[in-house]
Amino acid sequence: MARILPVPSFDCVVFGATGDLTMRKLLPSLYNRFRDRQFGTDSRIIAAARGALTADEYRGRAEAALRLHVPPDSLEPDTVAQFLRLLHYSQVDGAGDTGWKALVDDLDTRPAQVRPFYLATSPDLYGSICARLAAQGGIHPLSRVVLEKPLGRDLASARAINEAVGAVVPEAQIFRIDHYLGKETVQNLLALRFANPIFQRLWNADVIDHVQITVAETVGVEGRGGYYDRSGALRDMVQNHMLQLLCLLAMESPVSLDADAVRDEKLKVLRALKPIAPREAAHFAIRGQYGAGAVEGHPVPGYLADLGMAGEGLTETFVALKAQVNSWRWASVPFYMRTGKRLPRKVSEIMVQFRTPPFSIFPAEPTDQPNRLLIRLQPEEGIRLDMMTKEPGPGGLRLRPTGLDISFEKTFGQRYPDAYERLLMDVVRGNQTLFMRRDEVEAAWTWVQPLLDAWADKPEAPRPYPAGSWGPTAAIALIERDGRTWYE
Ligand code: BG6
Repeated sequence: MARILPVPSFDCVVFGATGDLTMRKLLPSLYNRFRDRQFGTDSRIIAAARGALTADEYRGRAEAALRLHVPPDSLEPDTVAQFLRLLHYSQVDGAGDTGWKALVDDLDTRPAQVRPFYLATSPDLYGSICARLAAQGGIHPLSRVVLEKPLGRDLASARAINEAVGAVVPEAQIFRIDHYLGKETVQNLLALRFANPIFQRLWNADVIDHVQITVAETVGVEGRGGYYDRSGALRDMVQNHMLQLLCLLAMESPVSLDADAVRDEKLKVLRALKPIAPREAAHFAIRGQYGAGAVEGHPVPGYLADLGMAGEGLTETFVALKAQVNSWRWASVPFYMRTGKRLPRKVSEIMVQFRTPPFSIFPAEPTDQPNRLLIRLQPEEGIRLDMMTKEPGPGGLRLRPTGLDISFEKTFGQRYPDAYERLLMDVVRGNQTLFMRRDEVEAAWTWVQPLLDAWADKPEAPRPYPAGSWGPTAAIALIERDGRTWYE
């Protein structure tokens, strides 16, 4: 059974409080934690945005968002009413000077409260919001500043943001969020690797042939075209979520679960990633963009039509990459990654393929396949180890692949909190283990930057793929030229 460990009471200020992230993720997550009594009615959520709204008008919007994004059976009327009373509204101009004094004066009436500031705004505003808060005296030892990804749009802008925020907020109070780290199954990678010595012994180039990381989505750009068209899959998914998964798979055992112990090990992986020179980009990275097609039986328009033809047409909605970690443990083991919108299924999955036996005493059969460890992050979270077994019964010794399967739902049978729920409570507790440190974010950008440069220098259009397919054929060639195939 899940244990609910109450957190200290807080006054959480959300900048960008009328935006999509707040409505879709932050308010529902806070509601769920409140419903589970992880915090009580002595906490406040202060919505900060530019518009002139009353608290009641904001509560009306928040209630509508809860109805849309929280399952109806979790919406108990009394709990919803109590939760809405925790919401306050503060008119603050994130890019200007109005509203800051009133906000900080209000916070100062409760100096003992933990004070998270969640910046659900464009990253361009992170530096100026923090500077204005600091100028008003709003940053005190119980303040925590939460920065949403993507942190910048390249290495230089990420550094500039880190510099500006770091000038007024100590690193120990900065929480750079990557919601993948809040997913149960992603945290389970730590348990799988470091609580099960059998895997520890197998986790190296002697035994592992290669690793695949797939994060496939069926959705298109979903009304976020303005953001997405300036971002693309490399910035939106690879620089953060995919590289974080790679770090958890490839890192050495941290000495403890302390934030810096874990982040030190992840940083070493990022720094060990073999750099891809711009001239090699086409060999190691394929970008694609979906055209019209059908997903799960429904016809859907292409990317440019989704944007209302507003885009320039150069944004990638799919990336496939081959990465290598330069270390003794991983020498010669490729990590293939692919992610995209409008793919056939929503699935996030890691496949670790072990080497084939050095020779086989069994007659070769078409079904022969190497051992594979499949870690399904979503949906149907679980772990499966594919093994070869003897097919029962007479007829000769024939082998058949079979799976040792753990389904988390069948084993634990309960709702998993959304990643944001866990991460928001970690912010209040002040636990940074699942948040990215400055050097980590910059190391990830350092690896991605030559690809951005190569694509900017040669702005030919990404390769087209029909919606509902697994990306452009070049992505298949990327892995097949190494004699391997994508796991379907
Ligand atoms: C976000 C990206 O960080 O992650 C989105 O900005 C993407 O484009 C989303 O859809 C995927 O998250 P999840 O939790 O649905 O796998």
